[in-house]
Amino acid sequence: MSETLSPIDVPRIFVTRPLPGDAMARLREECDLRSNDEERVLSRDEILQGVEGRQGLVCLVTDAIDGEVMDRSAELRVIANMAVGYDNIDVRAATERGILVTNTPGVLTETTADLAWALILAIARRVSEGDRLVRSGEWRGWGPSQLLGTDVHGATLGIVGLGAIGRAAARRGRAFDMEVLYWNRTCLSEAEEAELGLSYRSLENLLDESDFVSIHVAYNRETHHLIGAKELAKLGEGSYLINTARGPVVDEAALIEALQEKRIAGAGLDVYEQEPIVPVELCELDNTVLLPHLGSASLATRAKMATMAVENALAACRGERPPNLVNPEVLESA
Ligand code: GLV
Repeated sequence: MSETLSPIDVPRIFVTRPLPGDAMARLREECDLRSNDEERVLSRDEILQGVEGRQGLVCLVTDAIDGEVMDRSAELRVIANMAVGYDNIDVRAATERGILVTNTPGVLTETTADLAWALILAIARRVSEGDRLVRSGEWRGWGPSQLLGTDVHGATLGIVGLGAIGRAAARRGRAFDMEVLYWNRTCLSEAEEAELGLSYRSLENLLDESDFVSIHVAYNRETHHLIGAKELAKLGEGSYLINTARGPVVDEAALIEALQEKRIAGAGLDVYEQEPIVPVELCELDNTVLLPHLGSASLATRAKMATMAVENALAACRGERPPNLVNPEVLESA
């Protein structure tokens, strides 16, 4: 892969969907651009064709990028995902082929934590139900027992996965006077825990003790169905599950059962196992708040993510190490 380091004059880049901000203008200026200009997810065949002969691919979480896609272009040098998560890309296949993979960390941290918070507040205080009641025209005025929810302030928050987004969500918990617990592959030092106001728990104990559990792990083989029937049973009937990470971290069928049988209090979900399919059972329940994968969806943040993805792709094409490389082994072995 020594080729990775040689600059390409006018790189041939394929973008799978229009990007926000000035990312597209930048690409038009600096490369030979092939792009999907429609606001829709491309079919597999369209992606396979689009990649042909390209040196760079800028793609999204909705695009499945595997070895077959990569093999469509012998010159493919970089796959730049406009997302912090990259479970849509077979990184091992890319590494085997000497292809660089990049993501967009950092810029979406606070925005995604904000959305986790929107879900916590919405499910606890029955915001969606209240909104539906007002719009239905059926609201007959204030009632002492109407749509009573659960207090967020002073409750216990469990953070599953203490990466950047998990930490940002934890900070918000502290601001709401919550006790904040965390579970993570690695523990913080005592000094760090004290500084951040967090306490470590095993996953089992965290589920047992928390009123709100917010998921912030990356999706991979180890986190597939991390939260299943057994874990939901631990969570218990007074507690809420919030997922802004990836759908398959939660066993959706088990979650539906737990919600239907009121074995947990409710769920605020931004992600699903088979996006964009949202099981009808989830839609029928009142104890769910359902969003269409909006975690990073603010104007400013999406523009930053697009710029970052484009910078990563262009840097690789200039022969530089892209700033947000997820498989540095490719360059090390070059
Ligand atoms: C969005 O889901 C992301 O990973 O950035």
